[in-house]
Amino acid sequence: MHPNQSPTLIELDCEEAFTQCPPQEQQRLHDALARVRAEVVVEDLRMLRGEIPTPAEKQPLDAAFLELPERLLLGYRNHGATSELGRLLQSAERLRERVDRVVLLGIGGSYMGPRALLDALCHPYHNELSRAARGGIPRMYFAGNNVDNDATDALLRLLAGTGESPSDCDWGIVVVSKSGGTIETACALRVFLEALRENCGQDSQRVLDRLRVVTGPQGPLRAISEAMGCPDVFEIPTGVGGRFSLFSAVGLLPAAILNIDVVQLLEGAVAMNSHFRDADPGENRVLDYVGSLYWLENTGSLDIRVLNVWSDALESLGLWHDQLLAESLGKREQGATPLTVVNTRDLHSRAQQHQQGRRDKIHVNLVIQQTRTAPIRIEPSEFEQDGLADLVGQAFPDIMAAAIAGTRQAYAGDRRPTIDVKLPAIDAYSLGQLFQMWMLTTVVEGRLRGVNPFGQPGVEAYKRNMVRILSRP
Ligand code: PA5
Repeated sequence: MHPNQSPTLIELDCEEAFTQCPPQEQQRLHDALARVRAEVVVEDLRMLRGEIPTPAEKQPLDAAFLELPERLLLGYRNHGATSELGRLLQSAERLRERVDRVVLLGIGGSYMGPRALLDALCHPYHNELSRAARGGIPRMYFAGNNVDNDATDALLRLLAGTGESPSDCDWGIVVVSKSGGTIETACALRVFLEALRENCGQDSQRVLDRLRVVTGPQGPLRAISEAMGCPDVFEIPTGVGGRFSLFSAVGLLPAAILNIDVVQLLEGAVAMNSHFRDADPGENRVLDYVGSLYWLENTGSLDIRVLNVWSDALESLGLWHDQLLAESLGKREQGATPLTVVNTRDLHSRAQQHQQGRRDKIHVNLVIQQTRTAPIRIEPSEFEQDGLADLVGQAFPDIMAAAIAGTRQAYAGDRRPTIDVKLPAIDAYSLGQLFQMWMLTTVVEGRLRGVNPFGQPGVEAYKRNMVRILSRP
């Protein structure tokens, strides 16, 4: 823990969700959640270690994400620069010094976490700033998550030179794919690697200096990196699935390149793990969050889960959360449909329906308790026609707080259930907690519903079909 870091835990307010829940029902739910917790923290991990057999319905079992933060921090404390995390930090630093732009190639769980980190923790206009204003931290772009010709062409042109000084045009690639065989990412790697070779004057050592590979123990991407002699390869461990891989090199390498405090991220995740293991149901953020959503969803058939993020910086985090829920729980005709909205922006596009449309939604508010920058105040003006006279002296955070309270009241007035998650601030420690909390809640909810939260068997069909359609007769 950083010496100035307060060990504040994320707050959860789910009282309203339980107002209609009879005490015996609540007790039954607490008992069931406590049983599931034991399954997740004891049984699943024993299966993963091969101490007891893994039944067919639990395959694949990607539960190793749970212990990653503790494992990485322990290794770093004991072995410093030679540990897995130490090696990753040095590799990130070397890339940061060499290039001004990094293209992260990956799709789904292989890029959504890094994107969420960039948007939440870096300057909102990071890529627009000069290198000096960015403190030497490279710009970051995302590709390989689509086969969009125009978007790819535009990025390749941008990388080829923008009229800036030559050193500003140095760029590199971080390619992330656990299987190493995902078509979108593989196609992008071929194209961007060729462009990088050109940018490096066909000097293979310079190409290797600017390439970072994050992949599973086997697969085509590992084979390519070995054939190229790439020294900076980081392994996604067995038992860690794509959308649960944020605290492996998948999230930590891009975070370190962006100079995000990865130790604080991991410390936050460790704090959430300990809380999950130790706190009783009724005082446990993970179990209470799942319990309230489970109760609301089952009693009211509320199968749309709206995540209201009250900060622009958290939109990508919301999309990461959408993916986590959709791919983990959307199976066997179950799983609420996740939807992220950014407020107050979307109060003017979606709130009408959310307040008075079909009764099929639960709202989760993600609220920030402290802004990073000094409050912007409404000053007196000679033009009072804007009707803001009563707001003079108030700041944007006051207006935001009023909008949150006002929306809450309006939704409660129409009996639209709401749960609040409160982040003390948008910092690495709080986000580390939140990412881990949501990975844990997703697994607990899956187990409670009898749905395996790991794997995404449905997605395999489109991949097979695409390959068949593309294959020459
Ligand atoms: O969560 C998941 O497992 C998926 O979203 C994967 O991350 C995604 O399909 C990309 O897979 P890969 O990393 O093998 O390219």
